[in-house]
Amino acid sequence: MSNPAEERYVEMSNLIKAYPNPYGDDIKVIDGFNLKIRKGEVVGVIGHSGCGKSTVLTMLAGLNPITSGGIIVDGREISGPGPDRAVVFQSPCLLPWMTAYGNVKLGVDRVYPHATPQMRHDLIAYYLGIVGLSDAMHRYPRELSGGMQQRVGIARAIALQPKVLLLDEPFGRLDSLTRMELQDVILEILDREKLTTVLITHDVDEAIYMCDRVCMMTNGPGAKVGNLMTIPFERPRHRAEILEHPDYYNYRGELICFLEEQEELKGDRPAKPEPKDGVGEDTHTDLVAQEDTSTEIPVLNDELESHVTDTEMVKVN
Ligand SMILES: Nc1ncnc2c1ncn2[C@@H]1O[C@H](COP(=O)(O)OP(=O)(O)OP(=O)(O)O)[C@@H](O)[C@H]1O
Ligand SMILES: [Mg+2]
Repeated sequence: MSNPAEERYVEMSNLIKAYPNPYGDDIKVIDGFNLKIRKGEVVGVIGHSGCGKSTVLTMLAGLNPITSGGIIVDGREISGPGPDRAVVFQSPCLLPWMTAYGNVKLGVDRVYPHATPQMRHDLIAYYLGIVGLSDAMHRYPRELSGGMQQRVGIARAIALQPKVLLLDEPFGRLDSLTRMELQDVILEILDREKLTTVLITHDVDEAIYMCDRVCMMTNGPGAKVGNLMTIPFERPRHRAEILEHPDYYNYRGELICFLEEQEELKGDRPAKPEPKDGVGEDTHTDLVAQEDTSTEIPVLNDELESHVTDTEMVKVN
């Protein structure tokens, strides 16, 4: 694809997000996050819990004010939420007094106020059908399983026909069978609708199966893009073929290696004890114990330092 506007359909530039801590100081949770996404591309975001994945996604959704930097979607800088960016969270948050149909209708009525009732009905029925809920569209959330409720959440999002679909761990609360079913539902939708998508996930296999590229985030505070990995598997994708692909384990290895490096950097580095005044003037035994400790700790610290350097070297921005 050579059209520059489509190459940078979504562009997040120098994003900074600071939250106040309990002492009133601003802590930069995200600091210098840069990412460009092509039109129709599916980009996964992976990183340790608390690094700031949802913060980036909610800023892109326009639900969370940006401290500094900017986000452009299809040539326009965003300044708040809009139907061009639909979000699916881990929990679908359906209105309990409305059926699946009613929950999807709410958004459709707002986004297409000038469409005829028949057109709106067709749209709602079509998208509920795509997610496999044609027979259950008039059921209330309490009459639907967790997986079915999440399907309603997905239908509600794609029925808005957004420019960008934002998925924040949409399968996080589902059992593994339902998770696989829904991954396939979403993949089919993405292939059919060619939706530009950001998928936050903790699951490296899910990222490889579903995404064209994976953005690996460093730990916060001050999180940014640590590395980017392209997954060039053709679409439509089939789980068995992907799992058997000779490159599958290389991609998996690269993602796991990044996460392990970040885990090591996470701050469980033991503090080097300061020598106390008078140590060494006591007994010989105390002196030996002190020497043993002081030879071990610098080695451990050296190892940790070398990880810092390695990670710095793979940074792409
Ligand atoms: N409204 C807020 N006020 C203050 N700090 C916040 C706020 N929202 C998030 N944070 C902090 O920002 C950091 C990033 O949070 P975020 O929810 O984006 O992480 P995450 O990567 O999505 O985590 P998880 O994988 O657990 O969902 C965390 O340290 C969190 O405590
Ligand atoms: Mg999150």
